[in-house]
Amino acid sequence: MRKHILMKRLFIILFGFILLINCKFSYSHNNVINNSPETNSNEVLIKNFHPGEIWTDMNGKHINAHGGGVIFYEGKYYWIGEHKDSGTSNALAGIRMYSSEDLYNWKDEGIVLAVDPENSGSDIEKGCIMERPKVVYNKKTGKFVIWFHLELKNKGYKAARYAVATSDKITGPYRMEYSARSCKDIWPLNMSLKERSEAIKSFQDKEESGKENSVLKGKFVARDLKEGQMSRDMTIFVDDDGKAYHIFSSEENATLHIAELSDDYLYHSGKWIRILPGRSNEAPAIMKKDGKYWLITSGCTGWAPNKARLAVSESIWGPWKELPNPCRGLNAEKTFNGQSTYILKVEGKKDSWIFMADIWKPENQLDSRYIWLPIEFENNVPVINWNDEWGL
Ligand code: GAL
Repeated sequence: MRKHILMKRLFIILFGFILLINCKFSYSHNNVINNSPETNSNEVLIKNFHPGEIWTDMNGKHINAHGGGVIFYEGKYYWIGEHKDSGTSNALAGIRMYSSEDLYNWKDEGIVLAVDPENSGSDIEKGCIMERPKVVYNKKTGKFVIWFHLELKNKGYKAARYAVATSDKITGPYRMEYSARSCKDIWPLNMSLKERSEAIKSFQDKEESGKENSVLKGKFVARDLKEGQMSRDMTIFVDDDGKAYHIFSSEENATLHIAELSDDYLYHSGKWIRILPGRSNEAPAIMKKDGKYWLITSGCTGWAPNKARLAVSESIWGPWKELPNPCRGLNAEKTFNGQSTYILKVEGKKDSWIFMADIWKPENQLDSRYIWLPIEFENNVPVINWNDEWGL
């Protein structure tokens, strides 16, 4: 009998021990795939940023919001971006959103602007290209407005349009409003009458048009005046006074344009400028500190990374001045193998901004990664230091 009780106790201890080892194993396993989480009941908690690593949402799935942007609304951050699939960079689903209270742990809010069915003939038919979406809230109309870069299906990058979608609720669903080229029939504010006629001449005159400085002179502005200016890589910036601006690559990606938005954020107001002509800037991301505007961009090498650029201005309307690469540390010459997409202001923390970039994987965009790093100021100029792991 005694022997029997002893055996029973031994069995219970052994069983408990096996259970313990099992729990420990599954915890450390979660740790590896879920970006340092702690398991807390069913939730996965992430407590630090791990730039370049797989970043899972609260369901344990790799976040799918590329070329994105983040806004803060009623106590939460909302991150929207391109939903990517494997095998193509084209839009098969649409624009996806996530929400978070702490910037580490993100809840999937699903596709907020869906592509239209194949053969629908819609501007956002499945298979089109939807890139770099940014969402803004318009206080006057109470509407949420998404702006993104749109390329029509089967036309490569030729359409070069921006597109606008709206919703009464931040988490959508968003309704497509329209897509267009920019500022039809309107010359930029920063081209004098003389410069305008030189631009026309350099576009019309074959010999002149072939010269490199014809791009600087604005031959593409003249060429696209009737149809509207090309609009590709982009961001939206809302200034302290509520005025919003669309900043985008134009003129065959040679020159950035900054166009003011109408008060309802649905259209361009018609006021626009060209900046850094001929510098081929893409992937614009912007922030403002102590009255100065800081613009971070990439060069123009498609999905492949290149060296980040920095520019500063005392006014959104320029003049913009270029400064050296703001990145420091491992792979700083290649933007840490990423490409800028947005600068996010951390709420309730003085002078705290996060540089957001994408590590593209064109062979399987589902595996594309995110780089989030703090923007620090040294001698009043932004710098971005590489860090494998960091927290706010
Ligand atoms: C990049 C751009 C991306 C995408 C890609 C296509 O330069 O930043 O958003 O358009 O080119 O090759």
